[in-house]
Amino acid sequence: EASGSPVLDLAGRRVVVTAGGTREPLDPVRFLGNRSSGKQGVAIAEAARERGASVTLIAANLEVADPAGCDLRTVSTALELRDAVREAAVGADVVVMAAAVADYRPATVSEAKIKKDPGSDEGLTLELVRNPDILAELGHAAHDGTLLVGFAAETEPDAGRLLELGRAKRRAKNADLLAVNRVGWASGFATDDNAVTVIDGDDTIAAELHGTKSSVAHGILNVVVSKLSSAP
Ligand code: CTP
Ligand code: CA
Repeated sequence: EASGSPVLDLAGRRVVVTAGGTREPLDPVRFLGNRSSGKQGVAIAEAARERGASVTLIAANLEVADPAGCDLRTVSTALELRDAVREAAVGADVVVMAAAVADYRPATVSEAKIKKDPGSDEGLTLELVRNPDILAELGHAAHDGTLLVGFAAETEPDAGRLLELGRAKRRAKNADLLAVNRVGWASGFATDDNAVTVIDGDDTIAAELHGTKSSVAHGILNVVVSKLSSAP
């Protein structure tokens, strides 16, 4: 926190955070990626650390410095992130899936650099296959005692429809909480500010947060702490 000593309301808790964006290789020099900088996920890891948690940060191609005091696991692809989070999630109190995970990866990865066909000026069609939905897998597996927090990145401009998309996503993945984030060409990614609506397990709004990614992180953790302390 900016001033005073932080409240250690996550002391003794183990928190796993995924951050950044996965990259899916096409060949040794190319990948399919996305514009997630990792800022919001890193801010959540830092905030949880400040509040006394022991934090594992699963970092996928961060564009920001990794935070001090976290157990850092570096990954690049969705399949690597899945392995790392599955391992780290065992016995964790909280798993926050803030990473932007590629929905598809190239069906094959070429060992050699893909070359243009010099004899033609035709385009190239890439074949992609689905990646597993890591949050849905965690949500539909037994996860007693582990609070699952997802994110949703949506470009929907209408606030009511945005909320409905978030509610449907939370239900489909069986997450305990889902933070809905409106993104666009110029908002949500490398910016310092963010605005999210946190949807609770009963479809109600648990929090509406806007401000720096650090203040949004603390707001999300306030909801997490209240859910942890009300759990049986
Ligand atoms: N997620 C995941 N594994 C994937 C894709 C997404 O774990 N293969 C997680 C993200 O980390 C995030 C949540 O699911 O916490 C929602 O991601 P998002 O991309 O908004 O939703 P999708 O379910 O992939 O739906 P779509 O991209 O089609 O809107
Ligand atoms: Ca997606």
